[in-house]
Amino acid sequence: MDRNLALNMARVTEAAALASAKHLGRGDKELADQAAVDGMRKMFDTLNIDGTVVIGEGEIDEAPMLYIGERIGQGNTDLKVDIAVDPVEGTNAVAKGSANAISVVAIAPEGCLLHAPDMYMDKMAVGPRARGCIDINAPIEDNLKAVAKALNKDISELTVTILERPRHDEVIGKIRAAGARIKLFYDGDVAAAIATCIPESGTDIMLGIGGAPEGVITAAALKCMGGELQAKLMPRNDEEIKRCKDMNVGDVNKVLYMEDLVKGNEVFFSATGISDGDILKGVTYSSENTVKTHSMVTRGETGTIRFIETIHNLDEKPDYAY
Ligand code: FBP
Repeated sequence: MDRNLALNMARVTEAAALASAKHLGRGDKELADQAAVDGMRKMFDTLNIDGTVVIGEGEIDEAPMLYIGERIGQGNTDLKVDIAVDPVEGTNAVAKGSANAISVVAIAPEGCLLHAPDMYMDKMAVGPRARGCIDINAPIEDNLKAVAKALNKDISELTVTILERPRHDEVIGKIRAAGARIKLFYDGDVAAAIATCIPESGTDIMLGIGGAPEGVITAAALKCMGGELQAKLMPRNDEEIKRCKDMNVGDVNKVLYMEDLVKGNEVFFSATGISDGDILKGVTYSSENTVKTHSMVTRGETGTIRFIETIHNLDEKPDYAY
Protein backbone atom coordinates (compact mmCIF):
# COMPACT_ATOMS: atom_id res chain seq x y z
CA MET A 1 0.00 0.00 0.00
CA ASP A 2 1.18 3.52 -0.79
CA ARG A 3 3.02 4.89 2.22
CA ASN A 4 1.39 8.27 1.73
CA LEU A 5 -1.90 6.74 2.77
CA ALA A 6 -0.59 7.38 6.29
CA LEU A 7 -1.07 11.14 5.94
CA ASN A 8 -4.59 10.68 4.62
CA MET A 9 -5.38 8.48 7.60
CA ALA A 10 -4.21 11.25 9.90
CA ARG A 11 -6.64 13.56 8.07
CA VAL A 12 -9.42 11.07 8.81
CA THR A 13 -8.79 10.87 12.56
CA GLU A 14 -8.13 14.62 12.74
CA ALA A 15 -11.54 15.29 11.17
CA ALA A 16 -13.27 13.01 13.69
CA ALA A 17 -11.39 14.49 16.67
CA LEU A 18 -12.12 18.06 15.56
CA ALA A 19 -15.82 17.31 15.22
CA SER A 20 -16.07 15.54 18.54
CA ALA A 21 -13.92 17.90 20.60
CA LYS A 22 -16.58 20.61 20.61
CA HIS A 23 -18.62 18.23 22.80
CA LEU A 24 -15.91 17.75 25.43
CA GLY A 25 -17.39 17.67 28.91
CA ARG A 26 -20.91 18.48 27.70
CA GLY A 27 -22.34 15.27 29.09
CA ASP A 28 -23.68 13.85 25.82
CA LYS A 29 -21.63 10.89 24.59
CA GLU A 30 -24.04 10.05 21.73
CA LEU A 31 -23.73 13.55 20.27
CA ALA A 32 -19.95 13.51 20.64
CA ASP A 33 -19.80 10.15 18.85
CA GLN A 34 -22.22 11.17 16.09
CA ALA A 35 -20.21 14.32 15.35
CA ALA A 36 -17.03 12.24 15.07
CA VAL A 37 -18.73 9.70 12.80
CA ASP A 38 -19.94 12.46 10.47
CA GLY A 39 -16.51 14.13 10.38
CA MET A 40 -14.70 10.86 9.76
CA ARG A 41 -17.14 9.67 7.08
CA LYS A 42 -16.84 12.94 5.17
CA MET A 43 -13.06 12.74 5.09
CA PHE A 44 -13.12 9.07 4.04
CA ASP A 45 -15.19 10.09 1.00
CA THR A 46 -12.22 12.07 -0.32
CA LEU A 47 -9.82 9.08 -0.27
CA ASN A 48 -9.00 6.99 -3.29
CA ILE A 49 -9.46 3.61 -1.65
CA ASP A 50 -11.93 0.77 -2.05
CA GLY A 51 -12.57 -0.04 1.58
CA THR A 52 -15.01 -2.07 3.60
CA VAL A 53 -15.70 -1.32 7.25
CA VAL A 54 -15.01 -4.53 9.20
CA ILE A 55 -14.93 -2.91 12.65
CA GLY A 56 -17.35 -0.02 12.88
CA GLU A 57 -20.19 1.66 14.67
CA GLY A 58 -22.37 -1.46 14.66
CA GLU A 59 -24.38 -3.65 12.33
CA ILE A 60 -26.21 -2.02 9.40
CA ASP A 61 -29.50 -1.82 11.31
CA GLU A 62 -27.80 -0.19 14.34
CA ALA A 63 -25.69 2.50 12.68
CA PRO A 64 -26.54 4.72 9.71
CA MET A 65 -22.87 5.43 8.97
CA LEU A 66 -19.61 3.56 9.31
CA TYR A 67 -21.59 0.37 9.85
CA ILE A 68 -19.99 -3.04 9.41
CA GLY A 69 -19.93 -3.93 5.72
CA GLU A 70 -20.22 -0.30 4.52
CA ARG A 71 -18.12 0.51 1.44
CA ILE A 72 -15.85 3.49 1.95
CA GLY A 73 -13.75 5.67 -0.36
CA GLN A 74 -13.99 6.68 -4.00
CA GLY A 75 -13.48 3.09 -5.12
CA ASN A 76 -11.79 3.78 -8.47
CA THR A 77 -8.72 1.78 -7.50
CA ASP A 78 -7.53 -1.82 -7.19
CA LEU A 79 -6.65 -1.09 -3.59
CA LYS A 80 -9.20 -3.14 -1.64
CA VAL A 81 -8.82 -2.66 2.09
CA ASP A 82 -10.38 -3.62 5.41
CA ILE A 83 -11.08 -0.63 7.62
CA ALA A 84 -11.45 -0.61 11.40
CA VAL A 85 -12.77 2.62 12.90
CA ASP A 86 -13.55 3.98 16.30
CA PRO A 87 -14.41 7.65 15.71
CA VAL A 88 -14.44 8.18 19.48
CA GLU A 89 -12.56 5.63 21.56
CA GLY A 90 -13.67 6.71 25.02
CA THR A 91 -17.13 8.20 24.52
CA ASN A 92 -17.63 8.60 28.29
CA ALA A 93 -14.28 10.34 28.54
CA VAL A 94 -15.40 12.94 25.98
CA ALA A 95 -18.76 13.38 27.69
CA LYS A 96 -17.07 13.91 31.06
CA GLY A 97 -14.07 15.84 29.73
CA SER A 98 -11.70 13.29 31.21
CA ALA A 99 -8.43 11.90 29.84
CA ASN A 100 -7.38 9.68 26.95
CA ALA A 101 -10.24 9.99 24.46
CA ILE A 102 -8.90 9.48 20.95
CA SER A 103 -10.17 8.95 17.44
CA VAL A 104 -8.66 5.88 15.73
CA VAL A 105 -8.51 4.14 12.37
CA ALA A 106 -6.65 1.06 11.14
CA ILE A 107 -6.39 -0.09 7.52
CA ALA A 108 -5.00 -3.33 6.09
CA PRO A 109 -5.42 -5.26 2.83
CA GLU A 110 -8.77 -7.00 2.41
CA GLY A 111 -9.09 -10.06 4.66
CA CYS A 112 -6.29 -9.04 7.05
CA LEU A 113 -8.26 -7.65 10.01
CA LEU A 114 -10.22 -10.02 12.26
CA HIS A 115 -13.94 -9.27 12.01
CA ALA A 116 -14.29 -9.31 15.79
CA PRO A 117 -17.83 -9.40 17.12
CA ASP A 118 -19.01 -6.62 19.43
CA MET A 119 -18.44 -8.31 22.80
CA TYR A 120 -15.84 -8.40 25.55
CA MET A 121 -12.28 -9.57 25.06
CA ASP A 122 -9.57 -10.36 27.61
CA LYS A 123 -6.33 -8.64 26.60
CA MET A 124 -2.68 -8.47 27.59
CA ALA A 125 -0.43 -5.97 25.81
CA VAL A 126 3.27 -5.22 26.02
CA GLY A 127 5.78 -3.14 24.10
CA PRO A 128 8.60 -4.30 21.80
CA ARG A 129 11.10 -5.28 24.49
CA ALA A 130 8.68 -7.67 26.16
CA ARG A 131 7.25 -9.09 22.93
CA GLY A 132 7.34 -12.90 23.02
CA CYS A 133 7.52 -13.05 26.82
CA ILE A 134 3.84 -13.05 27.77
CA ASP A 135 1.27 -15.84 27.95
CA ILE A 136 -2.32 -14.75 28.63
CA ASN A 137 -3.14 -18.25 29.91
CA ALA A 138 -0.32 -18.24 32.49
CA PRO A 139 -0.75 -16.93 36.06
CA ILE A 140 -0.37 -13.16 36.26
CA GLU A 141 2.61 -13.54 38.63
CA ASP A 142 4.53 -15.46 35.89
CA ASN A 143 3.77 -12.77 33.33
CA LEU A 144 4.96 -10.04 35.68
CA LYS A 145 8.22 -11.90 36.28
CA ALA A 146 8.77 -12.50 32.55
CA VAL A 147 8.08 -8.87 31.60
CA ALA A 148 10.24 -7.54 34.45
CA LYS A 149 13.12 -9.74 33.23
CA ALA A 150 12.68 -8.61 29.61
CA LEU A 151 12.67 -4.95 30.66
CA ASN A 152 15.56 -5.42 33.07
CA LYS A 153 13.43 -4.10 35.93
CA ASP A 154 12.49 -5.28 39.37
CA ILE A 155 8.83 -6.28 39.71
CA SER A 156 8.42 -3.32 42.08
CA GLU A 157 9.39 -1.03 39.17
CA LEU A 158 6.84 -2.48 36.71
CA THR A 159 3.68 -0.46 35.99
CA VAL A 160 0.56 -2.33 34.94
CA THR A 161 -2.37 -0.29 33.60
CA ILE A 162 -5.86 -1.68 34.10
CA LEU A 163 -9.32 -0.45 33.28
CA GLU A 164 -11.01 0.27 36.60
CA ARG A 165 -13.97 -2.11 36.66
CA PRO A 166 -15.22 -4.46 39.42
CA ARG A 167 -14.45 -7.41 37.10
CA HIS A 168 -10.74 -6.62 37.53
CA ASP A 169 -10.69 -6.61 41.35
CA GLU A 170 -9.25 -10.13 41.58
CA VAL A 171 -6.38 -9.56 39.14
CA ILE A 172 -5.63 -6.19 40.76
CA GLY A 173 -5.31 -7.99 44.10
CA LYS A 174 -2.87 -10.49 42.61
CA ILE A 175 -0.76 -7.78 40.99
CA ARG A 176 -0.60 -5.88 44.28
CA ALA A 177 0.38 -9.06 46.11
CA ALA A 178 3.16 -9.65 43.55
CA GLY A 179 4.52 -6.15 44.27
CA ALA A 180 4.02 -4.41 40.92
CA ARG A 181 2.73 -0.87 40.53
CA ILE A 182 -0.76 -0.27 39.14
CA LYS A 183 -2.20 2.63 37.18
CA LEU A 184 -5.98 2.47 36.90
CA PHE A 185 -7.72 4.18 34.01
CA TYR A 186 -11.40 4.74 33.45
CA ASP A 187 -11.93 4.52 29.68
CA GLY A 188 -9.96 3.88 26.53
CA ASP A 189 -7.90 0.71 26.52
CA VAL A 190 -6.54 1.36 23.00
CA ALA A 191 -4.56 4.38 24.22
CA ALA A 192 -3.48 2.48 27.34
CA ALA A 193 -2.17 -0.44 25.25
CA ILE A 194 -0.34 1.86 22.82
CA ALA A 195 1.41 3.40 25.82
CA THR A 196 3.27 0.10 26.41
CA CYS A 197 5.16 0.77 23.15
CA ILE A 198 6.28 4.23 24.27
CA PRO A 199 8.83 3.89 27.09
CA GLU A 200 8.37 7.48 28.33
CA SER A 201 4.67 6.79 28.94
CA GLY A 202 5.56 4.84 32.06
CA THR A 203 3.28 1.90 31.20
CA ASP A 204 4.82 -1.58 30.91
CA ILE A 205 1.78 -3.85 30.61
CA MET A 206 -1.90 -3.20 29.84
CA LEU A 207 -4.29 -5.96 30.74
CA GLY A 208 -7.90 -6.76 31.44
CA ILE A 209 -11.26 -7.16 29.79
CA GLY A 210 -12.48 -4.54 27.33
CA GLY A 211 -14.16 -4.41 23.93
CA ALA A 212 -13.23 -6.93 21.22
CA PRO A 213 -13.42 -4.40 18.35
CA GLU A 214 -10.98 -2.18 20.29
CA GLY A 215 -8.76 -5.27 20.60
CA VAL A 216 -8.35 -5.56 16.83
CA ILE A 217 -7.60 -1.85 16.52
CA THR A 218 -5.05 -2.18 19.34
CA ALA A 219 -3.41 -5.15 17.59
CA ALA A 220 -3.07 -3.08 14.40
CA ALA A 221 -1.33 -0.30 16.34
CA LEU A 222 0.94 -2.69 18.23
CA LYS A 223 1.86 -4.55 15.04
CA CYS A 224 3.13 -1.28 13.58
CA MET A 225 4.93 -0.34 16.80
CA GLY A 226 6.53 -3.76 17.45
CA GLY A 227 4.54 -4.66 20.54
CA GLU A 228 2.36 -7.66 21.27
CA LEU A 229 -1.28 -8.21 22.17
CA GLN A 230 -2.65 -11.58 23.22
CA ALA A 231 -6.42 -11.84 23.53
CA LYS A 232 -9.35 -14.13 24.21
CA LEU A 233 -12.97 -13.47 23.27
CA MET A 234 -15.30 -13.47 26.27
CA PRO A 235 -18.80 -14.35 25.04
CA ARG A 236 -21.22 -14.06 27.96
CA ASN A 237 -24.16 -16.07 26.64
CA ASP A 238 -25.30 -18.44 23.87
CA GLU A 239 -26.22 -15.56 21.62
CA GLU A 240 -22.70 -14.13 21.81
CA ILE A 241 -21.23 -17.58 21.16
CA LYS A 242 -23.44 -17.79 18.05
CA ARG A 243 -22.25 -14.35 16.92
CA CYS A 244 -18.64 -15.55 17.13
CA LYS A 245 -19.51 -18.55 14.99
CA ASP A 246 -21.51 -16.46 12.49
CA MET A 247 -18.49 -14.22 12.08
CA ASN A 248 -16.22 -17.23 11.48
CA VAL A 249 -14.26 -16.66 14.64
CA GLY A 250 -13.99 -20.45 15.12
CA ASP A 251 -13.03 -21.72 18.58
CA VAL A 252 -14.15 -18.92 20.92
CA ASN A 253 -11.88 -20.12 23.72
CA LYS A 254 -8.64 -19.99 21.80
CA VAL A 255 -5.94 -17.43 22.36
CA LEU A 256 -5.84 -14.86 19.56
CA TYR A 257 -2.27 -13.95 18.73
CA MET A 258 -1.08 -11.03 16.63
CA GLU A 259 -1.42 -12.90 13.32
CA ASP A 260 -4.97 -13.96 14.21
CA LEU A 261 -5.95 -10.37 14.93
CA VAL A 262 -4.06 -8.66 12.09
CA LYS A 263 -2.49 -10.69 9.28
CA GLY A 264 0.81 -9.53 7.80
CA ASN A 265 2.45 -6.19 8.34
CA GLU A 266 0.86 -4.13 5.56
CA VAL A 267 -1.15 -2.24 8.12
CA PHE A 268 -1.59 1.45 8.89
CA PHE A 269 -2.84 2.99 12.13
CA SER A 270 -3.71 6.57 13.00
CA ALA A 271 -4.93 8.16 16.23
CA THR A 272 -5.74 11.79 17.08
CA GLY A 273 -6.24 13.04 20.62
CA ILE A 274 -9.65 14.44 21.55
CA SER A 275 -8.93 15.00 25.26
CA ASP A 276 -5.42 15.20 26.74
CA GLY A 277 -3.84 11.80 27.37
CA ASP A 278 -0.57 10.09 28.22
CA ILE A 279 0.52 10.02 24.57
CA LEU A 280 -1.57 12.50 22.64
CA LYS A 281 -2.69 16.00 23.47
CA GLY A 282 -6.32 16.88 23.03
CA VAL A 283 -7.75 19.37 20.55
CA THR A 284 -6.97 22.98 21.49
CA TYR A 285 -8.52 26.20 20.18
CA SER A 286 -6.59 29.44 19.71
CA SER A 287 -7.79 33.02 19.61
CA GLU A 288 -6.48 33.29 15.99
CA ASN A 289 -9.29 31.15 14.60
CA THR A 290 -7.04 28.10 14.42
CA VAL A 291 -7.39 24.68 16.05
CA LYS A 292 -4.50 22.39 16.92
CA THR A 293 -4.64 18.58 16.77
CA HIS A 294 -2.06 16.02 17.86
CA SER A 295 -1.91 12.69 16.04
CA MET A 296 0.17 9.56 15.84
CA VAL A 297 0.49 7.64 12.56
CA THR A 298 2.37 4.41 12.13
CA ARG A 299 2.70 1.64 9.54
CA GLY A 300 3.69 -1.95 9.87
CA GLU A 301 6.04 -2.28 6.92
CA THR A 302 8.61 0.10 8.39
CA GLY A 303 7.58 0.56 12.02
CA THR A 304 7.91 4.33 11.60
CA ILE A 305 5.95 6.22 14.24
CA ARG A 306 5.13 9.81 13.35
CA PHE A 307 3.70 12.34 15.76
CA ILE A 308 1.95 15.11 13.87
CA GLU A 309 0.94 18.43 15.35
CA THR A 310 -1.42 20.15 12.91
CA ILE A 311 -2.67 23.70 12.95
CA HIS A 312 -5.99 23.95 11.12
CA ASN A 313 -6.78 27.41 9.81
CA LEU A 314 -10.51 27.84 10.18
CA ASP A 315 -10.54 30.95 7.95
CA GLU A 316 -9.52 28.63 5.10
CA LYS A 317 -11.37 25.54 6.29
CA PRO A 318 -14.67 26.79 7.74
CA ASP A 319 -15.97 23.19 7.54
CA TYR A 320 -13.73 22.40 10.50
CA ALA A 321 -15.29 25.09 12.69
CA TYR A 322 -18.16 22.75 13.68
P1 FBP B 1 -16.51 3.41 24.08
O1 FBP B 1 -15.80 4.57 23.49
O2 FBP B 1 -17.21 2.58 23.03
O3 FBP B 1 -17.39 3.85 25.20
O4 FBP B 1 -15.38 2.43 24.68
C1 FBP B 1 -14.56 2.83 25.73
C2 FBP B 1 -13.97 1.65 26.46
O5 FBP B 1 -13.35 2.11 27.66
C3 FBP B 1 -12.98 0.84 25.65
O6 FBP B 1 -11.70 1.39 25.56
C4 FBP B 1 -12.97 -0.46 26.40
O7 FBP B 1 -12.48 -1.51 25.59
C5 FBP B 1 -14.44 -0.62 26.76
O8 FBP B 1 -14.98 0.70 26.78
C6 FBP B 1 -14.70 -1.26 28.09
O9 FBP B 1 -16.06 -1.56 28.20
P2 FBP B 1 -16.93 -1.27 29.52
O10 FBP B 1 -17.05 0.21 29.66
O11 FBP B 1 -18.22 -1.95 29.24
O12 FBP B 1 -16.19 -1.86 30.67
